[in-house]
Amino acid sequence: MTTRTQMILGMHLGNGYGSQTSAWRAPGVDPANYTSFDAQVRYARAAERGKFAFLFLPDFLGEHRDLDRESLMITLDPMLTLAAIARETTHIGLVATGSTTFNEPFNLARQFKALDIMSHGRVGWNAVTTSDPAAAANYGRTIAPRPERYQRAHETIQIVQALWGSWEQDAWVKDTASGRWADSTKIRPINLRGEYVASRGPLPLPPSEQGQPVIFSAGGGANGAEIAGRYASGVIGAVFTIDDAREQREALRDAARRAGRNPDEVKFFAGVMPAIGSTKREALDRRVALGELTAADRVPYLSAMLSLPAALTAEQLDRPLTAAQLASASANPLDPRSARALEVAREGWSIRDILAHGVIDYHPTPVGPASATADHMQEWFEAGACDGFWVSIDVNEDGIDTFVDEVIPILQRRGLYHADYEGSTLRENLGVPAQYGLDPRVTVTGE
Ligand SMILES: Cc1cc2nc3c(=O)[nH]c(=O)nc-3n(C[C@H](O)[C@H](O)[C@H](O)COP(=O)(O)O)c2cc1C
Repeated sequence: MTTRTQMILGMHLGNGYGSQTSAWRAPGVDPANYTSFDAQVRYARAAERGKFAFLFLPDFLGEHRDLDRESLMITLDPMLTLAAIARETTHIGLVATGSTTFNEPFNLARQFKALDIMSHGRVGWNAVTTSDPAAAANYGRTIAPRPERYQRAHETIQIVQALWGSWEQDAWVKDTASGRWADSTKIRPINLRGEYVASRGPLPLPPSEQGQPVIFSAGGGANGAEIAGRYASGVIGAVFTIDDAREQREALRDAARRAGRNPDEVKFFAGVMPAIGSTKREALDRRVALGELTAADRVPYLSAMLSLPAALTAEQLDRPLTAAQLASASANPLDPRSARALEVAREGWSIRDILAHGVIDYHPTPVGPASATADHMQEWFEAGACDGFWVSIDVNEDGIDTFVDEVIPILQRRGLYHADYEGSTLRENLGVPAQYGLDPRVTVTGE
């Protein structure tokens, strides 16, 4: 494992449409893609053509949206979607989200390891604690306080990893001559009991080609950094400036050091949601068309981001802020995206165009030709803000191909991105070390 001089990329794959909530009705998109595994496989293969290290499938167990207008944003079931994709791809990593609160460790261990075996060692588990009361309601429960959820998360991840290591790596003999299928002395229970979860084991599964799945985490906070520092090989951040990203990456690396690990074992990914067109105007128009139904609803929030004393109104959508409005605007410190919103407003764009710059989206949005996205990624990567990017495409149907055909070659020409996969497993392609079972450097709690 070395510090990489080239960025690593992961592709967000959600509902089969794309990351904009109106992508389901974009031109050329089949509105039935929510249930189309063929579409998901097509997008996965496009990302693999771009040598993406992994696909990342979020999961929310209690999604509640305005379904009259917006599609659901997650896939039917992340594990089943990835099982379909695994059979149709060869190198791209397959990272699924799984809740530590609403799953038993034995189920998580079995499903992720089975998928890891099926995919020849390409699986990652994005371990999330789940804080949504709507998710809890689907399990007939309520959301426990954060310390309890995080304690359960530590226990769950440790038990899952111990189960993954419950067969010694040479336990599966398969010797037809002697008639011995496995060496049962090398397959042992784990007997772990925490405060919230427990398992005897062993798991009925041999090692995968990468030993066992890789742990990911997403989001932040002190509790999240502690989980990531101990167990994760990949972390997706929610960061809006280079300074913020550097700070979060350093906090993560410190947490890894505290856990006795080499900080280079944890790769930090910044999100990026590119808006690409042959010109900046074209890129904005693509987003304007996608935001057609939601732009008016977002105006009040934009007013709050700009701390305007008198709120902007939807009537002003096609006009820029007035001189008086600009003079009284300031970046709302409660939202880290506000500084960017103010910067774009000061450039004199109409309110509709300000919104089309993605200022209320969940990750930074470079707008313009492919080179604008490549420039953004280069600047962040060279500033030490991240080890790579979690790329979230507005409309998958044409957007993944555009990214792969236009942005990737620029990054490759600049020497910032690999020409091919380093190996065949996710560990190899992330450049993280082998691990089998629990990491001996991390203490088992509640044994
Ligand atoms: C890029 C990204 C993706 C995320 N994906 C998920 C997800 O799929 N499911 C989920 O429940 N939370 C997801 N989260 C949220 C975090 O995992 C975490 O729940 C959040 O940071 C706060 O958690 P807490 O309130 O339990 O501390 C994601 C966060 C980020 C930044």
